[in-house]
Amino acid sequence: MERDELIVGDCVDVMNSRPAGSVDLVFADPPFNIGYDYDVYDDRRGKSDYLAWAERWLQAAVRILSPTGSLFLAIGDEYVAEHKVRLDALNLTLRNWIVWHYTFGVNCTKKFNRSHAHILYYTRHPQEFTFNANAVRVPSARMTTYSDRRANPIGKLPDDTWVLRPQETDNHFQDESDTWSVSRVCGTFKERTGHPCQMPEAVLERIIRVATNPGEVVLDPFAGSGTTLAVAKKLGRRYIGVEISEDYAKSICKRLQRIEFGAEVVKRDPVSAPRGPGIRQTRAAGLKLKPR
Ligand SMILES: C[S@@+](CC[C@H](N)C(=O)[O-])C[C@H]1O[C@@H](n2cnc3c(N)ncnc32)[C@H](O)[C@@H]1O
Repeated sequence: MERDELIVGDCVDVMNSRPAGSVDLVFADPPFNIGYDYDVYDDRRGKSDYLAWAERWLQAAVRILSPTGSLFLAIGDEYVAEHKVRLDALNLTLRNWIVWHYTFGVNCTKKFNRSHAHILYYTRHPQEFTFNANAVRVPSARMTTYSDRRANPIGKLPDDTWVLRPQETDNHFQDESDTWSVSRVCGTFKERTGHPCQMPEAVLERIIRVATNPGEVVLDPFAGSGTTLAVAKKLGRRYIGVEISEDYAKSICKRLQRIEFGAEVVKRDPVSAPRGPGIRQTRAAGLKLKPR
């Protein structure tokens, strides 16, 4: 079995150097080109330059996706339309346009506070792809609110808006919602690493559970703080992460080592999830930090 990898370098080069069709899930959270302060990457590019680059990395990501693979792209208002047009042109099938609604950390002065990001969910094949419905079901309102006997006892699939509000939850989704309501990662959260735009683990947990099976390969071309890799590891999936900043990559290594050495709780697949090895904690030694 191949080892887990974290590669320091440019994601386009790395993806193009890999065999076509070799990963089961791509989760990409690229810089949004809105002026974030990263240590290496400049997030203030001209629009045409940014979009030409998007075209290149999207092509590379689609090439490396397996015939039954899935791609999730997190992106902001400014460029979601342009990315959707490009992904459609690459012959993927749109399954959902998810809205992740968050309620913390943005304070605008001359417009309403932004409280969402977009997550475009595509599959390579229109019918053949992994969708582990039972791994992500939530109780329905019929069960939780109306005590309706007609409710399906195994719950329902989440909606396509995901909401997780810090004041009401312990950074887990509100059970009855198909709105992805996950708080941004607040300064006080245990999972906080210091990276400027860290994704919450709850968002990645839902994506990885539904779109992959244990042992399959998850690729994150913009690894950042390593959220995707950390969750993949906790859920017994293999991972490939690419990050252009060597310093961020070093922090990711530390985060992954904390999981390996048991300092973090490893999440278990729900009872209804497909049977399998579920949790593996044996591959940290495979972590490969490859400076380029
Ligand atoms: C929005 S952040 C990703 C955050 C990540 N999802 C997390 O949860 O921490 C984007 C990351 O992409 C990295 N990056 C930018 N250009 C890159 C490239 N060409 N190849 C690999 N990484 C790149 C940046 O350094 C930054 O850490």
